[in-house]
Amino acid sequence: MRISVIGCGYLGATHAAAMADLGHEVLGMETDPGRRATLARGEVPMYEPGLAAMLSAAVGTGRLRFTDSYADVAAFADLHFLCVGTPQSPESLAADVSQVVTAVEGLAPHLDRPALVVGKSTVPVGTAQRLSLTLAELAPAGAEAMLAWNPEFLREGFALQDTLHPDRIVLGVADGRAEKVLRDFYAPMIDDGSPVVVTDLATAELVKVAANAFLATKISFVNAMAEVCEATGADVVDLADAIGHDDRIGRRFLNAGIGFGGGCLPKDIRAFVHRAGELGVEDAMSFLRHVDDINQRQRERVVKVATAMVGGRLDGAQVGVWGAAFKPDSDDVRDSPALWVAGQLHLGGAGVRIYDPRANASAARVFPPLEYAESAVEAARGAHLVLHLTEWPEFREITPGDLDDVVSRRRLFDGRNVLDLDAWRSAGWTARAVGRPER
Ligand code: UDX
Repeated sequence: MRISVIGCGYLGATHAAAMADLGHEVLGMETDPGRRATLARGEVPMYEPGLAAMLSAAVGTGRLRFTDSYADVAAFADLHFLCVGTPQSPESLAADVSQVVTAVEGLAPHLDRPALVVGKSTVPVGTAQRLSLTLAELAPAGAEAMLAWNPEFLREGFALQDTLHPDRIVLGVADGRAEKVLRDFYAPMIDDGSPVVVTDLATAELVKVAANAFLATKISFVNAMAEVCEATGADVVDLADAIGHDDRIGRRFLNAGIGFGGGCLPKDIRAFVHRAGELGVEDAMSFLRHVDDINQRQRERVVKVATAMVGGRLDGAQVGVWGAAFKPDSDDVRDSPALWVAGQLHLGGAGVRIYDPRANASAARVFPPLEYAESAVEAARGAHLVLHLTEWPEFREITPGDLDDVVSRRRLFDGRNVLDLDAWRSAGWTARAVGRPER
């Protein structure tokens, strides 16, 4: 099929490349000239495993092209995917939906034949209903220009897998015709076993924020447990293993650590709280404020522990930090707890040398004053404390022997609970972790 993808950021670039890979003809609409030029050369402006190769192959075949014109988009396709960003508004906790509104207002006047516009962006519930009215008003095709909502659940680091093999396809539709178009479009995934949930626009919008709110709640739950474990000498990793064996609970998203970050979970729960307030149901969603508070406190607790581990004063302390990205297999530092902790230690007076296998450049753009190292060992040089803050696999390969003569003091803090603390301790290191006994 011929499709357009409006907004070629993380979500859009992935969707465009993956759909071209499946054989569709794709026209990507991107208003940022720098990003558009990069994509048109077959390059990807962020790190996502496998995406660069897939996108450049798709551009090479001519099945994926880019434009900045809504007229081109409307002339090219009758199925349009909205993938623009909905960041947190600078003034409040609300999501800023201006890019979604602008896209619909830009596209609609060019829709002079039946078309389906499919929102994939994460939006506050009620947005789609509003957009479908705008579409019907501004499109020459009138009610033949339809809107559907089809939220995207992709995880950074697994974006292609999640796009090509989704664990569910949610179709928010106002009408059976939109459902048919989308079922045909997603036939390869549906035939492959991805379950489909067909629902209304509002439910489809809510599914996405509810899923992210639940995941965030799980993480904050286990991080709150970590605090209790620290107060009692219990071990949060064993606790998570034990409760995770209960299928009703499940072990995933129960890794205690320095808290969640990234471009989705933090802003989505805040936007949800804000929207609940507008809808008059703030009491029902007030627990999400606690989820956010626990998450923020978790970062602050790491700064406190790090300060204590260097003797109570950051002034004059040298800290090596492993990891800047909000999670491994990503160069994304949006709301990254790792970078936040590193930044606070620096602002508190410590010398901070940080290394991330992929995110040094993006971190340096956001927080230039830190010293960026070329390797994990270099980050640890002269350190009074090494902090492991993003769980890249290469950090697990480092042994005490690699660092014994590099650091000033043999002290390690594992903010992700994946290092073998016993191995470090038996090599003479002081090793601590989130929610685990000091021993
Ligand atoms: C998330 C959702 O998982 C995805 O479905 C949605 O489409 C977008 O938001 P993503 O932001 O890529 O995806 O990251 P995710 O893997 O969910 O991790 C989010 C944060 O939680 C990371 O900072 C991660 O380190 C943290 N996390 C995750 C934990 O601290 N503990 C866990 O057990 C799991």
